[in-house]
Amino acid sequence: MSRLDSMMRRLAAQRDGLEWGLAQLDGIEGDVLDMGLGNGRTYDHLREKADGRRIWVIDRILQCHPSCVPPEEDFLQGEAEDMLRKLAGMGAKVVMGHYDFGFGEKEKDVAEAARLSPLIADVMAPGGVLVSGQPLVGFDEVAGPEGIQPGRYYFYRT
Ligand SMILES: C[S@@+](CC[C@H](N)C(=O)[O-])C[C@H]1O[C@@H](n2cnc3c(N)ncnc32)[C@H](O)[C@@H]1O
Repeated sequence: MSRLDSMMRRLAAQRDGLEWGLAQLDGIEGDVLDMGLGNGRTYDHLREKADGRRIWVIDRILQCHPSCVPPEEDFLQGEAEDMLRKLAGMGAKVVMGHYDFGFGEKEKDVAEAARLSPLIADVMAPGGVLVSGQPLVGFDEVAGPEGIQPGRYYFYRT
């Protein structure tokens, strides 16, 4: 498969995964957390679809498209460990998390996701969902939306 095809499938899985995650929240109150603002694409999609839920965003750097800058009070700028601890300390009730941190090096990205998993668990409310570009550890993996090739995106219940 060409890298272009692979990227298009990954982005489609990401979009379908985010929409699947939000659809699981029917009747469940709480916030959304986007881990990795980057260009702001997933944040923008969540913002459009999340029905006014508060969307927390973590990134070490603010470098998104100008139209996607989160409100200052919802953007936790810094290293993931510190910001996840800060969010846990604020008592936020996160019912959907999207994990999109990464360097683009599979081995490092998988290791970081495993290392951050216990801190992610600390911010998640029971009954929530996690949608992730990397495998997370310590959560119950579920099937997610149809049509996504195994290993392309990961889905968990918390
Ligand atoms: C793949 S990009 C996110 C893309 C974004 N979701 C989008 O749709 O545009 C990954 C982002 O995670 C951030 N990041 C990676 N590891 C991090 C860490 N340990 N702490 C804080 N930010 C991190 C990077 O700065 C980068 O902006």
